[in-house]
Amino acid sequence: MRVAILSSEAVPFAKTGGLGDVAGALPKALRSVGVDSLLVLPLFEQTERKLLRAQVIDNLEVEWPSGTRRASVWLSDAAGAPAFLIDAPEYFARSSVYGFGDDHERFAFFCRAALALLKRLGPTPDIVHLNDWPGGFAATELRVRRALDPFYHRTRTLFSIHNLAYHGSFDPRDLDRLGFNTPERREPFMMEGAASALKAGLMMSDMLSTVSHRYSLEIQTPEFGHGLEWILRARRDRLVGITNGVDYDVWNPETDQYLAAHFNADNLEGKRMCKLDLLRRYNLPEELDRPIIASISRLTGQKGFDLIREAAAQILMTGAFFISLGSGAREYEDFFQALRDHAPRQVGTYRGFNEPLSHQIEAGADIFLMPSQFEPCGLNQMYSLRYGTVPVVRATGGLDDTVEDFDRSRGTGNGFKFGPYSAPAMLEKISEALYCYGEPEVWKQIQLNGMRVDNSWQAAAQKYLELYRTTAQT
Ligand code: ADP
Ligand code: GLC
Repeated sequence: MRVAILSSEAVPFAKTGGLGDVAGALPKALRSVGVDSLLVLPLFEQTERKLLRAQVIDNLEVEWPSGTRRASVWLSDAAGAPAFLIDAPEYFARSSVYGFGDDHERFAFFCRAALALLKRLGPTPDIVHLNDWPGGFAATELRVRRALDPFYHRTRTLFSIHNLAYHGSFDPRDLDRLGFNTPERREPFMMEGAASALKAGLMMSDMLSTVSHRYSLEIQTPEFGHGLEWILRARRDRLVGITNGVDYDVWNPETDQYLAAHFNADNLEGKRMCKLDLLRRYNLPEELDRPIIASISRLTGQKGFDLIREAAAQILMTGAFFISLGSGAREYEDFFQALRDHAPRQVGTYRGFNEPLSHQIEAGADIFLMPSQFEPCGLNQMYSLRYGTVPVVRATGGLDDTVEDFDRSRGTGNGFKFGPYSAPAMLEKISEALYCYGEPEVWKQIQLNGMRVDNSWQAAAQKYLELYRTTAQT
């Protein structure tokens, strides 16, 4: 089984969120179950050049409507599976991964370059595995092309939905310029007068998956479907939910390179050191018995920051520290800054993207707050479990599938979970968590229940292998 995974981001090369973690870990996990996997992604400005082994192609010819273009390709082993990085500076040597007016053109080019690359590499991949809206261009091109091109004749596509909120929408007049100029290439993109790369991916891929079982059901409803629920309902026999795994080579409190001390389920002593380290980093009083509630996130409405804003005064009244790491929407950045200015000895805020700090927070905090409005999978709650940091989450998507509400009478459960998207419901669970924090034996039980959960990629990789086999037979 030969599988080419195309992604707009992947660790350790480039990351803006969970897709980066997943695309960086999956190829390696697939190798361990016998899949001949490879990864293709753009070479961004932020990619560390020392990760690259060699330039393997310097004259990749990419078909482009305005005339054939050239790109070069670099090979890296840093992800534990061959990774090919497409070097096209006019598109990718920029300050960030996304956020430009020509993003649709950038990723359409990436997809065409990736398909040209796979032909150069040979042998034919059985599966091209696409991720989120940037993959919509490749899904469409491959579907149309494989009838004509013997190389791709038996290749099938799997499209993984990591987040249905991002449509990759653009002016449909640009479709011609990107080479989607025949009715069969244009039609799949069209959505309410705009062009949507996501919609094309959902329509034109042979199989669909998403990153938790619960989210695979939610997205078939108007509440979570972002206007695309009708496609997902119509294609539900081709839609599978596979919960993401955790790369314990990277996220493991026993070995994590960024921590002040190490720990595991048998000895939690080091976690106190990490807590002290974290309080110092945020210039907060060194009060080790006071609980730390933490948040690490892209600052978008998806993540439930409206609830946190509404409940902020009550959260502070509990006396707990509140620590955040994130960047994104200005309104939430300003909110966290104002909260810190209001209570500088209780609140710590870091605006920006900081990989080491994200590990230090997972290790040093007591409670991880993730009250998402929707959450396809979510990784931080799983990282929290392994680091003995108890998650308080809203029961949606992957949060519902991976966190089990603590049951005091039976001693089961690894976190706290609330249903309604409301500040009072969230506050009730925060209070319950803080109550348990006050009883060290109870708290330790919850921590250990979480630390012993196995969310490694092994099981997920096996499920992907089965899905690839099914997809190959369509
Ligand atoms: P999403 O993909 O929706 O952003 P996930 O929970 O799946 O949510 O994954 C988020 C990933 O991005 C985690 O690895 C998290 O640690 C990381 N992350 C988010 N914001 C930041 C930040 N400001 N600095 C460092 N890492 C961050
Ligand atoms: C998305 C989702 C997140 C998921 C990640 C990786 O960005 O928002 O829930 O964990 O992709 O699949």
